[in-house]
Amino acid sequence: MMVLMDEEKARFEALKKIRDEVVNFKDSPLTPFRIKPIIGEGNHFASIMLIGEAPGKNESETGHPFCGASGRILDELLASISLPREEVYITNILKDRPPNNRDPLPSEIEMYAPWLDRQIEIIKPKILGLLGRFSMGYIMERYELKNLIEPISRAHGRVYEADFKFGMVKIVPLYHPAVAVYNANMKEELIKDFKVLKELI
Ligand code: URA
Repeated sequence: MMVLMDEEKARFEALKKIRDEVVNFKDSPLTPFRIKPIIGEGNHFASIMLIGEAPGKNESETGHPFCGASGRILDELLASISLPREEVYITNILKDRPPNNRDPLPSEIEMYAPWLDRQIEIIKPKILGLLGRFSMGYIMERYELKNLIEPISRAHGRVYEADFKFGMVKIVPLYHPAVAVYNANMKEELIKDFKVLKELI
């Protein structure tokens, strides 16, 4: 019991340190677009960590990841496998919003990704659900799966494995929920792929 409490405290403190660092980081080209940075939220002992690309306007206004239109799709997807949002940990590669919701630049990914790497090392998930091609590209390249990278249209729903400092992690590329906002067929694909996540738990 004591050990668990110590570990809870350690994870909380380590994540808080990341929060403080990001909040105090003002040298990013994205700083002018920041309302609030988005660090991540959810269970610090989650078996599943979901990684998106970057916050949008709604997220920046509230400080919560996936709380706009994509977030509503994500909630539906989690509900489709009866997985409460509070049980997973949700974050993004970029902690600040790119202007006009444009794609993250490679230089921005490089700038923000060390915080993501640390979040993964702290939470030690067993499964990473990679929401979209940027998250897939970053994680697969970083964790020695570069040779296996394919377009997201082929890779989605497949299960890869990577060796992290804390153990083996299953990696599942998924379409970004934004693709389903106006496309019911894509939502069906995402629902199928979320079943894969469920089976891995
Ligand atoms: N899209 C993302 O990739 N992340 C969010 O938090 C919101 C939208």
